[in-house]
Amino acid sequence: MVSYYHYVIVALAVISATLLAIFLFSRRRLYLLSYALPGPTTLIPLVGNLGSFFMHRKNVFQFFDRIVAKFPQTFRFWFGPKLIVVSSDPAVLDKISKSAAFEYVDVFDSNQKETDERWRMHKKLIRPLINVKFAIDNIATFQEHGRICTTLLEKHLNNKEFDVHQYLFPCFLDIYGEILCGKVIGCQNGRNRNLIWAMETVLKLRDIERAFRWLHLWSLYKMTDHYKQSNDAREMLSYFIQNVIRKSWQRRKLDVFGENKTGATPLVDRIAEFVENNRKAMRNEEFRDYLLKIYIEASSTSALIASYVCVCFGMYPECQVRAATEIRANLGEDLQNLKYENLYKLKYLEMCILEATRLVPKSCFTIRTFTESVDLGDDVTLPEDCPILIPNYWMNRSESYQKPDHFYPNNFLPENVKWRKSGNESHGSGTHECIGRLLSMVGLKIIISQIVSRYRIEADGKFHDLRIGNPSYPKPSLHGFSLCLRD
Ligand code: HEM
Repeated sequence: MVSYYHYVIVALAVISATLLAIFLFSRRRLYLLSYALPGPTTLIPLVGNLGSFFMHRKNVFQFFDRIVAKFPQTFRFWFGPKLIVVSSDPAVLDKISKSAAFEYVDVFDSNQKETDERWRMHKKLIRPLINVKFAIDNIATFQEHGRICTTLLEKHLNNKEFDVHQYLFPCFLDIYGEILCGKVIGCQNGRNRNLIWAMETVLKLRDIERAFRWLHLWSLYKMTDHYKQSNDAREMLSYFIQNVIRKSWQRRKLDVFGENKTGATPLVDRIAEFVENNRKAMRNEEFRDYLLKIYIEASSTSALIASYVCVCFGMYPECQVRAATEIRANLGEDLQNLKYENLYKLKYLEMCILEATRLVPKSCFTIRTFTESVDLGDDVTLPEDCPILIPNYWMNRSESYQKPDHFYPNNFLPENVKWRKSGNESHGSGTHECIGRLLSMVGLKIIISQIVSRYRIEADGKFHDLRIGNPSYPKPSLHGFSLCLRD
């Protein structure tokens, strides 16, 4: 006998089937795209290739290494219900860098689309503030902290190997703390060590957080230890940066300089001046978020690249000798009173820095999401909101580079750069290009020159022996930036 419950069950089944059909129909363009592109075999759309991602985060890089090698220039994979397209096709990349219609995916922001639009607008105002004069004004600050770092390294002289990043990260936090935030941080002298922890935590967990958001599992993530850690780190950083801004207002009222001994005006005061004159143009929380973003980018990337250059100098001594000779010829033996003109002449060192950024880009992937559908050619359309991953790390190993898996600074000789189709993307391109290109080059040249002119670096192996762990904060996962210092 057919009861009332049977009708209810049938009605529920029909409603569920209809909802599922509507859901699948609304995503039809994703399925068509998935069908048109090669990629790993998927089971069911909701699970996708998620099974392949159950691994320790130290192994994520190796996983991508395998799939990028296996598939052609443009391929897809399903991260749970999220379709992701990976592309290193120059025609696709051209569309990305030229199109204004994309959204920057950043897990720090709640309303990503609006935040991104406003950041791009404000970036036009902030970028000119970090100019050549700003770099020249701050040479003494780089020099002073580089001197402290070189002195601290003394205890490792003719001793066993150690991780140089543990010295360089505090060094750059101190430098950019003064230059950007107008605050003496003192990490190198053992103060504010929780700042190092907070920054590393945020950088380390960035990928995991993005993954949980994509899978709509944020509520689940909130129950994990990771969330607690990253929340503590964010609160700490937010408190720190608010304090920096408050002090800047006070300072400006009293008309005094930042804590920077050189008397150069820190970036925070320059932005504060703009905000004061255009009250409605930038919200207080935007000011806070931008300054934090710039401080994190500046110190973490500079420390990463400086550490890679040092380790590579140890692994490729012939490059170290050439750089040291150039440094001595242009900056003298004692590196006193450094001048911008002399730093500018360090062309070989500049090539070494660019080569390190080629081997290890700031982030192994760049992630972009268009806000409208884009024709990728060959009857393939990328629907809006479908993330596209640009595999920077792997693209930087194309045949247009000589010895692609080695540290080979000659890749950046002018005659070799000239014929390469894509320019130097070490600092990004398009609307999200780095705002610290020039400043970072000046800073890195000073710090590396100080270390190389005082010590001879030794490191085991060659570049490919370093195993990279986390693709969005690419440090060597096995022994860190291990090297020895000799007289
Ligand atoms: C060797 C040092 C550096 C390297 C290799 C580097 C590289 C990069 C790259 C590749 C991007 C683009 C990321 C993307 O396309 O999504 C970027 C963005 C950025 N960089 Fe740098 N950077 C360095 C130093 C600095 C410094 C010193 C500052 C600040 C003074 C800085 C501030 C920024 C900011 C704020 C962004 C975000 C731009 C945006 O989203 O519009 N960077 N950097």
